Amino acid sequence: MKKIFSIGFNISLAVAIASCEYNYEEETVDGGVNNCDIAVSYTDFIRPLIDNNCMPCHNGDGNEPFAPDLRTFNGVKGIAELVKEVTLNRRMPKDGSLTNEQIASIGCWVDQGALNN
Ligand code: HEC
Repeated sequence: MKKIFSIGFNISLAVAIASCEYNYEEETVDGGVNNCDIAVSYTDFIRPLIDNNCMPCHNGDGNEPFAPDLRTFNGVKGIAELVKEVTLNRRMPKDGSLTNEQIASIGCWVDQGALNN
């Protein structure tokens, strides 16, 4: 009886571990990725992230100090490497609100060619 219990427990543990590993290869809940082999979508991930974390500062209002206009795809694409750099070193956003996964996903999107995907 004891033996059966322990086999059952081991199986459920194995399933739990396997499902963790499975999730690790998948997209994160907000559409980011844990692994740069998976494409990051501008439309589904980058655009909403910028709208939520980089506005209203990067809205092209021309106010000083000048914050590059990030309202359009071309605006973001034009300075994609800089966007990767300032998020990676946590200069932006100024309140440091991005998660490590979000930052890594921005880097993946830039490394994948900053596509309008
Ligand atoms: C609270 C306002 C604010 C928020 C939020 C903010 N920024 Fe900025 N950002 C600025 C200002 C002001 C500047 C220009 C002055 C400076 O470089 O610090 C700037 C500069 C930049 C630059 C140019 C850096 C350089 O060296 O020329 C990039 C790229 C950038 N921000 C990206 C982002 C991204 C991406 C986000 C969101 C994830 C973000 N920022 C969020 C205000 C903001």
